[in-house]
Amino acid sequence: MAFKFSATLLLLPIIIGQALAADLFFDLPLRVTNAIVAPDGFPRSAIQAGTFPGTSIVAMKGDTLHINVTNDLHDPTMRRSTSIHWHGLFQARTGSEDGPAFVNQCPIAPGQFYQYNFGLAEQTGTYWYHSHLSTQYVDGERGALVIYPDDPLKDLWDVDDAGTIITLADWYHTPATQAMEQFTRDGHEPVPDSGLINGVGRYVGGPEVPWAVVNVEAGKRYRLRVINIAAYAGFTFSIDGHSFDVIETDGIETHPLVRHNLHFYLFSLTANQPVDNYWIRAPMLPVDKTNVKAILRYSGAPVVDPRTSQLALQKGVPPLQEFQLQTLINPGAPGGDAPADRVIDLDFDAASCIVWEINGIPYVPPSLPTLLKVINGATLESDFTTPEHTFVLEPNQVVELRIHGADHGIIHPFHLHGHAFDIIQSASGPVNFVNPPRRDVVAVEKGGVIIRFLTDNPGPWFLHCHIDWHLEAGLAVVFAEAPVQQRIGNQSEIITPQWLALCPAYNALPAGCGLNQRQARPSTFRDREG
Ligand SMILES: *[C@@H]1O[C@H](CO)[C@@H](O)[C@H](O)[C@H]1NC(C)=O
Ligand SMILES: *[C@@H]1O[C@H](CO)[C@@H](O)[C@H](O)[C@H]1NC(C)=O
Repeated sequence: MAFKFSATLLLLPIIIGQALAADLFFDLPLRVTNAIVAPDGFPRSAIQAGTFPGTSIVAMKGDTLHINVTNDLHDPTMRRSTSIHWHGLFQARTGSEDGPAFVNQCPIAPGQFYQYNFGLAEQTGTYWYHSHLSTQYVDGERGALVIYPDDPLKDLWDVDDAGTIITLADWYHTPATQAMEQFTRDGHEPVPDSGLINGVGRYVGGPEVPWAVVNVEAGKRYRLRVINIAAYAGFTFSIDGHSFDVIETDGIETHPLVRHNLHFYLFSLTANQPVDNYWIRAPMLPVDKTNVKAILRYSGAPVVDPRTSQLALQKGVPPLQEFQLQTLINPGAPGGDAPADRVIDLDFDAASCIVWEINGIPYVPPSLPTLLKVINGATLESDFTTPEHTFVLEPNQVVELRIHGADHGIIHPFHLHGHAFDIIQSASGPVNFVNPPRRDVVAVEKGGVIIRFLTDNPGPWFLHCHIDWHLEAGLAVVFAEAPVQQRIGNQSEIITPQWLALCPAYNALPAGCGLNQRQARPSTFRDREG
């Protein structure tokens, strides 16, 4: 069976590559609960999705997933409603299962459950999932999601199992609601207390929690799946003494590129060094450069901390830049170098320390989810209010987004739901229509980026900065793609009674107050918490 849990998966290799029936029906109960955890030695109440870190969801190409999320949240210092986004999955005809609260669904009320049902179609690769209600995933509701592939690059690796999934997370000692309150008071983005590799880390001045260990055998090649599941931080990933081939980003395979040092991509690593222990390093920018580490341990090496240094890395190979990634399969931007059918200019800025806006509008979620409005007949941009900042896209058009903003010295990772896009113009590098990188997140720095996608997937799709504090502060827009086709025809949305029941259950909750109350500012959450 293709579903397993991370707790056991860490020990059990997954058998891959054999002919598993693509239409197997897998049920995965995912209980979302509060628990005291201490991943860096500091105990705090947090949210776990199944386990902490979240249960790894492991599937095979073509599977249909049935993930029954039971909301057992009760700790009033954190959000108690919830919703889950399956980051990077296209959700053709199942935009109702995409997760963003008030775009694609009403939140699941405390004490309720909702079974997410969706097919994976042709998608394979390395993804993750996380709460998409307000800043809730900061509190721990996040995990890996891997779809094992028919891999055209399988000649490059020998081992691809639970032991090669590596998550990088930022971790806070205060609940996200409190951190957000602090942000609204002083305008400083909350800074994580530690960085976690596979759910383990150390904070400055904290106890010496044993490092996470990645075990390898000399001479074998590993398909490491490195996933940044952070809410704020960026990481630079390296392993002392080793280089690797970068072969996938955001589920899209790329032409292999040898590197020593990179930001959260998937790559193949050859264990070609003497049997020993080596530091895996993921300095977390801009916060903690020294404490985010793990151990690469060769079979036969003593159980001790590595004594390796990073110096060997400096020689020769330059760090990876996004524009160098070349899509392996069906490369080329939609529309080639011809003008796009629709060009949308997205100019973002901070209206104040705590309000971020695009084209002068800070996004504020509606109380009726965008999808529900579309199903009920919303077709024109005028059918949505100004703060919902919703663009209606015509079907089967090449849409070009030009995303740029004032330089605040920050990289904004913009994420689009429902699509992968071609990055015609990265933050650095030349214009490329022929074989540009294809991703679902793009790093926006000064100078801006240009991306293109084809509107072949009707649905309401969020585009937002993945720094969760910025999303909460309004740095988002929504695309209502092909609303007519979403209502009728062979691409129409599959709407279930269970999905329709979410809003009445949520709206029946008493209005929230106190800690969870909506602040006098834009917000992607509403304050019904029960
Ligand atoms: C989902 O889980 C709940 C228990 O949390 C159970 O009552 C319900 O029957 C499950 N639903 C499905 C469709 O399996
Ligand atoms: C869906 O309908 C359109 C228009 O009616 C048609 O051109 C297309 O081939 C259909 N696609 C599928 C997969 O049936």
